[in-house]
Amino acid sequence: MAIRLPSAWKDELLARTDIVSVVSGYVTLKKDGRRYWGLCPFHNEKTPSFSVNADLNMYYCFGCKATGDAIRFVMEMERAPFMDAVKILADRAHMTLPELQEDPDYERRRSQRERLLNANREAARFYHDTLWKPEGKAVLDYLHDRGLTDGVIRRFGLGASGDRWDGLTAYLTEKGYSQEELSLAGLTVLKNGNAFDMFRSRAMFPIIDQYNHVLGFGGRALQKDLKPKYMNTTDTPVFNKRKGVYAINLIRKSRDLKRVILVEGYMDVVTISQAGVTGAVATLGTALTNEQARLLKRYAPEVFLCYDGDEAGQHAIERGLDILEAEGVPCRVLYLPDGLDPDEYIRKNGVEAFEAIRPMRPAAYRMERLKLQFDLTTQDGKTEYAKQCASLLRRVKDPVDLENYLQGLSLQTGFTKEVLLAQIGAQTQTAGKDVSAPAFSPLRDKPAGVRQPRRPDGYKTEQTLLALLATGRLSEGTVKETDFISPSLRQIAERLMAGETPDSIVSDEDLTDDVRQDAGEAFSLVTGADMENAAEVAGDCLRKIRIRQLEQEMDKLKESMRKLESDEKKMQMLTEIQELSKQLGQLKQQGR
Ligand code: CTP
Ligand code: MN
Repeated sequence: MAIRLPSAWKDELLARTDIVSVVSGYVTLKKDGRRYWGLCPFHNEKTPSFSVNADLNMYYCFGCKATGDAIRFVMEMERAPFMDAVKILADRAHMTLPELQEDPDYERRRSQRERLLNANREAARFYHDTLWKPEGKAVLDYLHDRGLTDGVIRRFGLGASGDRWDGLTAYLTEKGYSQEELSLAGLTVLKNGNAFDMFRSRAMFPIIDQYNHVLGFGGRALQKDLKPKYMNTTDTPVFNKRKGVYAINLIRKSRDLKRVILVEGYMDVVTISQAGVTGAVATLGTALTNEQARLLKRYAPEVFLCYDGDEAGQHAIERGLDILEAEGVPCRVLYLPDGLDPDEYIRKNGVEAFEAIRPMRPAAYRMERLKLQFDLTTQDGKTEYAKQCASLLRRVKDPVDLENYLQGLSLQTGFTKEVLLAQIGAQTQTAGKDVSAPAFSPLRDKPAGVRQPRRPDGYKTEQTLLALLATGRLSEGTVKETDFISPSLRQIAERLMAGETPDSIVSDEDLTDDVRQDAGEAFSLVTGADMENAAEVAGDCLRKIRIRQLEQEMDKLKESMRKLESDEKKMQMLTEIQELSKQLGQLKQQGR
């Protein structure tokens, strides 16, 4: 991880963060003793095995072994990078990020942002409510005419701006927002001392981010010839059309999404969703940007580009592929024929036909596009086409895919595969080495394979001891790292003894997942009763561990005694064994 927060600041953030209430924002928790239980948000289950420990500030799932602190939980739930998760929690805890503490303007901007987001949320509600009133009837009729159901209208929070000059402006001024704020939010236009609504007589599409903030709006005119057809919020302190993605709030909620379908228009997203296909999103009236590509990468392992079937759309697909590939996002193309957009295609051919479209790999799509530029009935055309395809195919890393492309190209151009391969050149020698960046979860690919390791005898005892150590209730020196035979538990014990906290261990990026999970499991096993009698329970564990160690020592001695030749040495060893046996007897006696 590149970013390191000052650890004191991070500790304060975690101390001020109530992990139970953070998790409760996503999972219904039930209290049982000192722990809270719920259905795990990271894997499918019917009985709760997800536990939150308020004492140790951590969570652990006994089913899929997911574990970590509040920051890690937010990273996993929001599929957000570390700093984004930190920002979300800092907002909750009303803490200022350390690098921003120096900036006197920061607090002003933060509270301004908050007010603008609130104004936007009120506006979205106002537009949505208007839809069901007489002044919204024209828009509602329009949406119904386009085949939308009330259900999907509600899912997307669609709305209506009425034809009054200042309907929204008056409403929000009444609510205490100043004209300057409303103008800053892009909701109101100030002109010659008058304030009037930015959007009028339009179908309103609220643009909502992954944290459910309303950032801005797209407004569609009711008549096709009215210009502009779509009007979007201009960039504001909270809205940047190059960063946002329409409907990201909805794909965020679909877990285990196989692919995102990126389309051009708001209406396409809504129609695809109404047809029962999940994962459709759109950019906000601009070409795809690198930032948007990175955002999409968090939510699914692959992106399908499904732009309009016209020339502009197809050209945009090529640019989109460039961006996605540059960001290491696996992608394919859903090609729509006859210049249709997804909305038109589904209405005309049905959703089954849409789902049956075979996604094309980028190279295949680009070759199809290239073909249009050449006359393949001439030798010159074939030659030039073959050359350009060869340079495209350099990027294909999978040998089997490459073979398929070469076969097709050979048929079309008449060049043998060997010649085409020679044209592609030495660069394909690196085939097999997959250079594309890992996609999907920044933390852990799902579903997490549940590891059911064979645990050595006595592991359970070591876990209990470790858990007690983690509670901080044992006096110093009670436990030594050599009390632990399991390598992972010993490593965790060393860290605890060096002063690291349990929650920092379970979310430490530098530890392997196996070690983190072992820590999470051990820490989560301790019960209230164990806590009350920590010293006593620990003493019992230590005694068991000591017994096991003595038994092992004795076995070893017996084994080597058998191999000895000299009787004298045998006698010596026997005395040692008897001594151990006496100790063992005493220890076992103590346990009664
Ligand atoms: N767009 C825009 N400004 C315009 C036209 C379009 O911002 N003047 C953006 C909008 O985000 C719109 C997208 O580009 O959703 C696609 O536009 P277009 O293909 O023209 O519209 P459709 O999505 O087909 O819209 P509709 O079906 O409502 O005609
Ligand atoms: Mn359309």
